[in-house]
Amino acid sequence: MRFHLITGASRGIGLELTKQYLELGDSVYACCRSPETARELGRLETQFSERLTIVELDVTRADHIQRLVDQFKKENVQLDTLILNAGVALPEAFGKWSEEAFLATLKTNLIAPALVAQALVGFLKPEAKVVNISSRIGSFDAKINLASDQDAYAISKSALNMLTMRLAAKEEMQGKVIVAISPGWVRTDMGGPQATLSVEESARGIIKTIESLSSSLSGSFLSIDGAIIPW
Ligand SMILES: NC(=O)c1ccc[n+]([C@@H]2O[C@H](COP(=O)([O-])OP(=O)(O)OC[C@H]3O[C@@H](n4cnc5c(N)ncnc54)[C@H](OP(=O)(O)O)[C@@H]3O)[C@@H](O)[C@H]2O)c1
Repeated sequence: MRFHLITGASRGIGLELTKQYLELGDSVYACCRSPETARELGRLETQFSERLTIVELDVTRADHIQRLVDQFKKENVQLDTLILNAGVALPEAFGKWSEEAFLATLKTNLIAPALVAQALVGFLKPEAKVVNISSRIGSFDAKINLASDQDAYAISKSALNMLTMRLAAKEEMQGKVIVAISPGWVRTDMGGPQATLSVEESARGIIKTIESLSSSLSGSFLSIDGAIIPW
């Protein structure tokens, strides 16, 4: 049995990854900040009660992370995959930039994945995969929508990419594969209705890319067709 942990599983890409892994016969720890309002996850729990564990995890809260660590210690959990997917986009036009939005964005999109990965490293199988869900907007080479109001978001994803590279170099991560994956432009609350990909297509591509990861790719930034995205 394979075990996956997914953050931000209440909706969007995280919810669909949860669904597809369950349909593949795997076990999922689906983390979300408000299990009581995550109705779709509740429905999946009825269908897949044996293999779905819903975990309350606001990724920005140290007490929630510690509670998860305590639970994993008790249950002797060993994960195959850790998917750090929870993210926020808080657009602000230049001239209206605020410390508050920059800090909130960096806290969720960068600091939280760093601290969750650090807390859970002891619960990863030797050959586990750690995936930061990033975005092509964070690529320096791609120069996407530079004039848009997604400044804090883009910066947070560039930094998340560097986090990926640095995590991959840690001694504790040797043997594991750590990557950043861009999910494409996806029709979710964040991506909006004009986006080119359905959540099903994006999640399928993410899972396929994860399945095909080899150790030589650790520290890379990849698209959902498995191709390397320039930094
Ligand atoms: N959609 C796109 O086109 C696109 C493109 C590139 C990258 N991405 C990335 O893909 C990931 C998923 O995006 P999405 O499109 O699925 O977005 P979404 O539909 O807005 O969902 C975001 C998810 O993150 C969760 N979340 C936010 N802050 C959290 C926190 N502090 N603790 C725990 N969970 C938190 C949300 O939980 P609540 O329900 O509690 O708010 C929700 O489950 C993000 O990292 C995003 O940056 C998306």
